[in-house]
Amino acid sequence: MNPETEVVDCDVLILGGGMAGCGAAYEAGYWAKNKGLRVVLVEKGAIERSGAVAMGLSAINCYMGMKFGENQPEDFVRYVRQDLMGLSREDLVYDIARNVDSTVHLLEEWGLPFFKTPEGRYKREGRWQIMIHGESYKPIVAEAAKKAVGEDNIYERIFVSHLLTDAKDPGRIAGAVGFSVREPKIYVFKAKAVICAAGGATGVFRPHAVGEGLGRIWYAPWNTGSVYKLMITAGAEMSQFEHRLVVARFKDGYGPVGMWFLLFKSVLKNAYGELVEQKWAELLKDWAPYGLGKPIPTPLRNHQMIQDYLAGRGPHYLRTDEALQKIFAEVQNDPKKVREIESDAWEDFLDMTMSQALVWASENIDPAKTPSEVVLTEPYLMGSHASATGAWVSGPEDVAPKEYFWGYNRMTTVRGLFAAGDGVSGSAHKFSSGSHVEGRLAAKAAVAYVHDNPDTPNVDPDRVQALRQELWRPFEVLEQSAGASTKPDVNPNYVLPKQALLRLQKIMDEYAAGQGAYYITNEPTLLRGLELLGQFKIDLQSMAARDLHDLLRCWEVWDRVWCAEAHMQHLLYRQETRWPGYYYRGDYPHIDEENWKCFVNSRYDPATGQWTMSKKPYIQVVP
Ligand code: FAD
Ligand code: ADX
Repeated sequence: MNPETEVVDCDVLILGGGMAGCGAAYEAGYWAKNKGLRVVLVEKGAIERSGAVAMGLSAINCYMGMKFGENQPEDFVRYVRQDLMGLSREDLVYDIARNVDSTVHLLEEWGLPFFKTPEGRYKREGRWQIMIHGESYKPIVAEAAKKAVGEDNIYERIFVSHLLTDAKDPGRIAGAVGFSVREPKIYVFKAKAVICAAGGATGVFRPHAVGEGLGRIWYAPWNTGSVYKLMITAGAEMSQFEHRLVVARFKDGYGPVGMWFLLFKSVLKNAYGELVEQKWAELLKDWAPYGLGKPIPTPLRNHQMIQDYLAGRGPHYLRTDEALQKIFAEVQNDPKKVREIESDAWEDFLDMTMSQALVWASENIDPAKTPSEVVLTEPYLMGSHASATGAWVSGPEDVAPKEYFWGYNRMTTVRGLFAAGDGVSGSAHKFSSGSHVEGRLAAKAAVAYVHDNPDTPNVDPDRVQALRQELWRPFEVLEQSAGASTKPDVNPNYVLPKQALLRLQKIMDEYAAGQGAYYITNEPTLLRGLELLGQFKIDLQSMAARDLHDLLRCWEVWDRVWCAEAHMQHLLYRQETRWPGYYYRGDYPHIDEENWKCFVNSRYDPATGQWTMSKKPYIQVVP
């Protein structure tokens, strides 16, 4: 296959059409219209059903409710600080909190149905979470994005693989390169500003379900870490890449548990009927001051569960049966009311994680009568849940301390390159609504940047030619090696992307504190892991593709490999255990406020291939 090439010129380029990307398109479209600028959005799938929200959600997990006097942005910053064990970019978190309600109100205006109280307020699931009928969440958000920039400017089914920097100034962005996943075609996008919003990273670690269940994970399997790989390889500084997300989920279906804990007040018990939180309450003191605060941080809840498991008290069960029976008794088992409660509970899964409903059906589980097993997931790298992996970005002008500000909100350390959603570090708990609003903030700043820097960047044609060859290399490898064996999936001269993925997941599980290693690692283990990863990268030069689908998978493996390397470099650098339950450094098993209450940053230098690690100060913004 000899690919044709299409060149697309624009002013603002948005990579990824998920929550942050659609938010960016909505906002950029508005500001760009007056200035006559062209905004283009590129998405690997189809934005109507792409990204983590693809199947719909049942809650909006970030809403202040300022107009009802429910919460102030400062309250949210304190909550995030506590959940993240003290370390957050409070300027970024505050910026999301003060703006997020406006996005939620827009969503309602666009037609998203919300649960309402008799007084007409949004129905709360928890202090920060409100309930929605979310099946069509993504189509609604996508429609607004399309209208804002025009359908002709939405390029779908294109996998973006590399960023382009200016030929004369590598510290400045110039565009991106990608390929169609439907036809042999390479795209070169030239742009003055780029917003990277291509979701978090899944599949870096071996999941619970392997073999026929591979791919059944919680976070979106099609988010393969492009957002990080693109920015890392362009030389942008990353932060908190050691921070990962491990969450409790219903076993095998990976159904979320938030609604059960927060709304239905379910509790987690071990197989012997003991309350895990109560039994291991003493453990929290070792993680003061955060262990003594409320709510218990997500990693510490995990830590209690891990200790109980290691004490041989599993399996663990969420007592959905006890919680629902109690609620039914409160409504005197009135059949109509029972039906309503059940329908809210079931809709939660049918909207969001249908596979959980299927697992329950196939295992004869009625959550109103039978408790369900809960386990901790494999680690994910993402910046929008109770985790903060991503790029180190400039904060908002009026709030960011000078150490966190270099001119344009959400701009990375590469000029003209912005990030949003899972791509931004240090501002956890933004979820779907916060990611959308962060896309809007980044887009507004990106348009301002283009206004101030109107000259067109230089794209090096030799670099584009080299990327063309690199992208298509897996086809060449196949061609050169065909015939060396009688079965195409076993060949001494190449490795297929699925085989490569399995090998990566094995390395990460065993050496980088995966679930199979009970989330534990140490310096010698990480050094060995990095050594194995280095050898693996050499073998990856022989990755082969049989068709375009394989080609996509090959490049997704590369995304994950870059994430894996950055993650291990960060795990190695931070000599403490700050987030037990996410991971443990066996050689530094305690929290160390004196030396490590700071951010860990890294930069990969594309010119030398070297990583540089550094500490960045934590600055409290909200008292
Ligand atoms: P996404 O929305 O995932 O968007 C990333 C986009 O980039 C996708 O469209 C993807 O296809 C595209 N992309 C990826 N790689 C490339 C590439 N190389 N080239 C081009 N495009 C690319 N949040 C809530 O508020 N409430 C909830 O109840 C809730 N429940 C959740 C339940 C599940 C099962 C999941 C998976 C997530 C849930 N979330 C919830 C979290 C929420 O979905 C995320 O926080 C949010 O979507 C992150 O936004 P994002 O734009 O960074 O990523
Ligand atoms: S979701 O993104 O898939 O919906 P999940 O169901 O875990 O995630 O969480 C939804 C919300 O509830 C998040 O804001 C999360 O931090 C919160 N949450 C989940 N479990 C608990 C708990 N036990 N205590 C406090 N907050 C929780």
